[in-house]
Amino acid sequence: MTAFPPNRQSFSSHWLAFTSNRRFHQHPKMVSHAEGIFYHTPEGHKLYDSLSGLWCTPLGHGNQAIAEAINAQMQQLDYAPAFNVSHPLAFELADKLVEMAPGDLNHCLFCNSGSEAADTALKLARAYWRAKGKPEKSKFIGRSKGYHGVNFGGISVGGIGGNRKVYGQTLDAYHLPHTWLAENCFSKGVPEVGDHLADSLLAILEVQDPSNIAAVMVEPMAGSGGVIIPSAGYLKRLRALCDQHDILLIFDEVITGFGRMGTLFGADYFDVQPDILTCAKALTNGVMPMGAVLANTDIYHCLMEQPGDDYLIEFPHGYTYSAHPLACAAALASLNQLQQPGLLPKVADLAKVFEQAIHELKGLPLVEDIRNIGLAGAIQLTMESKQPLKHASEISALCWQKGVYVRFGGNNLSFAPPFICEPQDIREIFSRVAEAIQEYDRGV
Ligand SMILES: Cc1ncc(COP(=O)(O)O)c(C=O)c1O
Repeated sequence: MTAFPPNRQSFSSHWLAFTSNRRFHQHPKMVSHAEGIFYHTPEGHKLYDSLSGLWCTPLGHGNQAIAEAINAQMQQLDYAPAFNVSHPLAFELADKLVEMAPGDLNHCLFCNSGSEAADTALKLARAYWRAKGKPEKSKFIGRSKGYHGVNFGGISVGGIGGNRKVYGQTLDAYHLPHTWLAENCFSKGVPEVGDHLADSLLAILEVQDPSNIAAVMVEPMAGSGGVIIPSAGYLKRLRALCDQHDILLIFDEVITGFGRMGTLFGADYFDVQPDILTCAKALTNGVMPMGAVLANTDIYHCLMEQPGDDYLIEFPHGYTYSAHPLACAAALASLNQLQQPGLLPKVADLAKVFEQAIHELKGLPLVEDIRNIGLAGAIQLTMESKQPLKHASEISALCWQKGVYVRFGGNNLSFAPPFICEPQDIREIFSRVAEAIQEYDRGV
């Protein structure tokens, strides 16, 4: 691996996000340009993008229609104040999103990331219960291994200890168990067992009481936690329990939104309707930062119909860059492509190739489980007790040398290739990953 590029003495001015910076300084992984399904390094090394960036570029890099839409919008209106003023594209995009979203998620709040979407959704849930005259309904329930970004709401409801370890007091939140079960190992697609795990909600409610709970927030499948897929009836059961106990159900679809599972949303895949849905990432094909929160009609009307003068703000929340015109332009251009009739069937076809290719790695050394759904999957590696993350981090580094960018999180290698891949690209990615695992094992 190349050390520092020759023109730099130090990289310390840029403090990298969610990165072991010290390791990066020793072995910097830099990309300088990208096209289609490939990244290129400054040294001329070409890499498959096996995670669509960070799950966000399903249409591949350098998408012309998106570039043209941003350019045109730049000439027309580069920025519009987000508060008390708006612009036509924001409404066009909101219309499109509510048309695409399942059920009566008819009202869209814009933000700039998945983390902001998560915190917006949590605030909305609390504001809703206040408006309904039930302010004590303020606590949240998330799920172990869940990821909802890095803001205070998201890390509280999220179920990854490492992400809150150094930050002290968080919000009042309780957690369902994750849905990984040893008996489901190496399941292809949705695993058989696990509906019963939703009933753990009852144990939490027994202690906390539903009268104190605002919302349950989960990802339809835990993406960053390692593509952990619930059994077919799990979310239905969770929905039924939330209904019984007057609790809102929020789906975080930042990863599962816009086709990753072969359906537009995870809610469609599992046929379960949330009250609030968050999305980001593929919304703009990763080209502009943008997130969105979709709320159902009941929530919207409840907040709009609060008593008071019309000049009062119904939901005091928003960002300088909410519904940014350039992000709206990028999103509309992306969604138009995602809505092309052939695209989701193509994802579903590729998903079959993906399933076969990833599961061929079963039996390789260190491979403890393999999971897949749609065009997402993970290879779970055994953990060394003293260095639990070592295998995944070292194998990912070897993959880089072999021309595949592979993301690792915990002891998982995660995959979410672009929808524009060809079947042979997917096979090639996993053949190189297999080589990396074997080579690493020989050297361990
Ligand atoms: C399910 C989910 N929610 C929220 C986020 C946070 O998104 P962002 O990094 O855009 O803040 C992510 C990011 O991976 C995610 O996977």
